Formats: sequence, structure tokens, C-alpha cells
Amino acid sequence: MGTDSTAPKLDMEKLVALCRRRGFIFQSSEIYGGINGFWDYGPMGVELKKNIKEAWWHDMVRNPPPGPDGLEIAMVGVDCSIIMNPKVWEASGHVGGFSDPMVDCKAEGCKGRFRADQLASTPCPLKPSKCAGQFEKCQLTEARVFNLMFQTFVGAMQDASSLAYLRPETAQGIFANFKNVLDSSRLKLPFGIAQVGKAFRNEINPRNYTFRSREFEQMEIEFFCRPNESMKWYEYWRDLRKNWYTKLGIQSARLRPREQGKEELAHYSIGTTDIEYLFPFSDEPQELEGVAHRGCYDLSQHMKHAGKDLSYFEEELWQKADKSAYGGDKKKEQEAKSKEPYRYVPHVIEPSAGADRFTLAVLCEAYHEDKQPDEKGVMQERVVMRFHPRLAPVKAAIFPLVNKDGMPEIAEKLYRELKQDFNVQYDDGGAIGRRYRRQDEIGTPFCITIDGQTKEDSTVTIRDRDTLEQRRVKLENIATEIRNLLRS
Ligand code: GAP
Repeated sequence: MGTDSTAPKLDMEKLVALCRRRGFIFQSSEIYGGINGFWDYGPMGVELKKNIKEAWWHDMVRNPPPGPDGLEIAMVGVDCSIIMNPKVWEASGHVGGFSDPMVDCKAEGCKGRFRADQLASTPCPLKPSKCAGQFEKCQLTEARVFNLMFQTFVGAMQDASSLAYLRPETAQGIFANFKNVLDSSRLKLPFGIAQVGKAFRNEINPRNYTFRSREFEQMEIEFFCRPNESMKWYEYWRDLRKNWYTKLGIQSARLRPREQGKEELAHYSIGTTDIEYLFPFSDEPQELEGVAHRGCYDLSQHMKHAGKDLSYFEEELWQKADKSAYGGDKKKEQEAKSKEPYRYVPHVIEPSAGADRFTLAVLCEAYHEDKQPDEKGVMQERVVMRFHPRLAPVKAAIFPLVNKDGMPEIAEKLYRELKQDFNVQYDDGGAIGRRYRRQDEIGTPFCITIDGQTKEDSTVTIRDRDTLEQRRVKLENIATEIRNLLRS
């Protein structure tokens, strides 16, 4: 993979501690001892994840690069309900097939539940056993299938008639609305429908921090296209999605697009490429996103189960057709209209990314330790989160060098101006070095200091988080400097 094997692996405990200390990620319901597989984002984490989702929406929905033919591509969004008619999940195959094989351990002191296909990599509570089933006292049951969908009831009755599910993927809301979107807009194939939202899976082994959670957010696109053009769109999305991660600061040496083997493919997929990232907790790259060629599986299933026509009619192609071929024969004409190339069930390419998984990859990638001189020139350990400026929770911090001589007034004014457009912080507490360290730990790209010279020439210093370079900039140019940084 070309990864630098000599680079020391990040110690996940250090990252988890930083995330808690600086308000990125907390255990859900921590004051009650937490709940396995659920996480909360704190003040810094919510900004980071929001920036990730906004970057995705901006780059994929509002401004996707031109398609393979050089033409602009059409993308729109939806925001669907989390609980849908349960028939959706029968049609999609989730009621019948969305399950993992699972074994229980009956041994005293364990009573664990493990995925049968992941025993070798699942830690065991019975020490000295390293993995589930390894220790002589382990008592594993036969494997049973376990449906991953969370169930709930809708309305006052709690019986089979009111059973519903929390969606395990956002994709089905898009398929169920395909016709609504088509009929309510002027879209023509090919086009994509995007959605960002929560999904829920009752994972047997939630683990590796937020990597495998029971509640998580997806950023999904269903791109509808002509069957005979689907391969070129598959390649387009696969390459675009991999490059997007690199653009946002993930080292390409740690990224790997991996074509799934036939035996791994989900029931709906003709072909899938996983975009994987080498997380510090694993020796093998792990899935960040799947780009799947879903063929016409989902729309065909919904056509069958809902009894609705979800096929697409190529109006323009029909208008251009040589209608004389039908010699005025209405029956022949109707027949021609009902078949390809005029009418067909669109094929779908689906880039499906996890917002939480990417947030975790961004946190892992950003974490750095180095040594920097403090204001007295003494070398000090520093933890710095080298976020891409677009993703950084705080874009700039504004400091008055000292709390006198008119500096706080200028700093506060600048802060109030900048916060109209950017998430910025004001900090006048403690030595300047300590203020820098606090910002480094949350990955703020710029620290702006108002000092004695500011009053004389209306300039301030800007200190760069990564190079530590300090330069003087006119007060009036600060907003432009930050804007340029965010475009980089
Ligand atoms: N609609 C297709 C679909 O849901 P998937 O590969 O099961 O495909 C897509 O999920 C993405 O959702 C994954 O690549 C991952 O980023 C994220 N994801 C899936 N399960 C997850 C979990 N338990 N915790 C966090 N993220 C998860």
C-alpha cells in the first residue's frame, strides 16, 4: 500500500483522552456508566462533524465535478423520516436478510455475544484468552442469525400490526421517493439524490471507539442512470470519492480503494469498491465508504412490493425516434414505448459514506505530537490537531496580547466582526503560549494577536498552526485571509 511503515502508530488511548478533554467525543449517558455502541459529540466534535457533512454536501451535491462526458451533473437532496412503512424493509431485503451470524458464550465470567465470522479478531472477556472461543473455558453456542434492525412500535398498540424499524440505511428513503422527486422537479436521467442522516444497527460487537456504533450518520447518494452507461458512472463515483478524502487531508498512503470479491457482495450489489483507511487500531485498512453498483435491484423490488411503476421514460429520445417505423400502428407504438431504450428501470450507483467513520479518520489523521519552544525559548511538548482548514472546528482565535492599552477593545471588535462569518474564539486568559497550546489541541489554523503595534499601524500578527510562522497582516484583510485559507 505504500504506507510509511516506520511511522509510529497513533496510540488510540491518547486520541480518546484528547477527544474527551477538549470536547470532541463523549461516551453517551456517561454519568450512568455509558451505553455500549452510542456516542455523543461535544462542542468541538459537533463543529467538526458539521463541517464534514457541509463539505460533502457542498462538493457532491452543489458542486460535483463534471461527469465522464464533461457535462455538468444534476444532484438534489432529500431528508426522509427515520421510521418508514415496514414494507419498505421487506422490499429492500432487510427484514429477511440483514443479519449477522452470532454465537453466545455460556462460560461463567463471560456471557458474551460475538459475531461468528469475526471470532479471531474479537477480544474475549475471559483472560488470558486473547480472542473469543480461544480459552478452554469458553463455551460457544452454535451460530444463530441475528437481525440488525432496531424495532419499535408506532401508536398505542404494541403488537405485530404496529411493528416498525429504525432505518438501517438512509438509501431506502431515496428509492421510495424516486418518483416523487422525478415528478416534482425537471430532472432528467442521469441524476443523483443525496441524503445525510442517522441510521441504526443493533451491531453485535460495537467497537473501536466510534468506528462500529449502533447509531451513526450516513452521507449517501443514489445516482440514477441508464443501464448501458452504469459502468462509466460507477468508475466516476469510485474515483471521485477516493480523491475527495485525499483533498480533505487524508494521506493517500493510508487510503485504499478495494474491489470486493464476489463472495463479499451485498445481496443488491453487482460490484462494490470499498474505500478503506488504515486506522491505528487495525493492521488492515477498514471501510470508510462503499461505492456500490446496485443495478436496478431496489427500484425493481419497490415496483414489485408497492405495485407502483417506477420505470423511467426517455421522452426526448422518443420524440426523436423515427415514428414512421410503426406505420401508424398504435399497438406497435405502445409496445415500443414500453421497452428499452425508451422505458427502463434505471440503474443505480451508490456512494455510501459514514460521517462518523470519516470524522474518526480525520481525528486520527490530524493528531500530532511535536516539540516547540515556548515564549522563553524552552522546548515544550505540544499536541496539535492538523485538521484541514475547511474541517477545523474553530477557524481562528483572537487574542489581545495583554488586557490593557486598548488591546481588548480592538480584539473584541475584530472577534464580533469575524464571528458573523466564521466560527472564531476569543481568548484573553493566561500567557500567550498557553493560549496557543489550547488552540493547537483543537486544531485552530490561525491565531490572531492584537499587540502594541496594532494601535499604530492597524496590523495584527497571524500565527500559522503548522509552520508556526508569524506574519503581520492589516486588520481589514483578516477576513479575506481566512476565506482564502478555507478555499485552499
Ligand atoms: N446503503 C448502503 C449501506 O448502508 P454499508 O456499507 O452497510 O452500506 C455504508 O454502510 C457506510 O456506513 C459504511 O461504509 C460506514 O462508513 C457506515 N457504517 C455502516 N455501519 C456502521 C456502523 N455500525 N458504525 C458506523 N458507521 C457505519
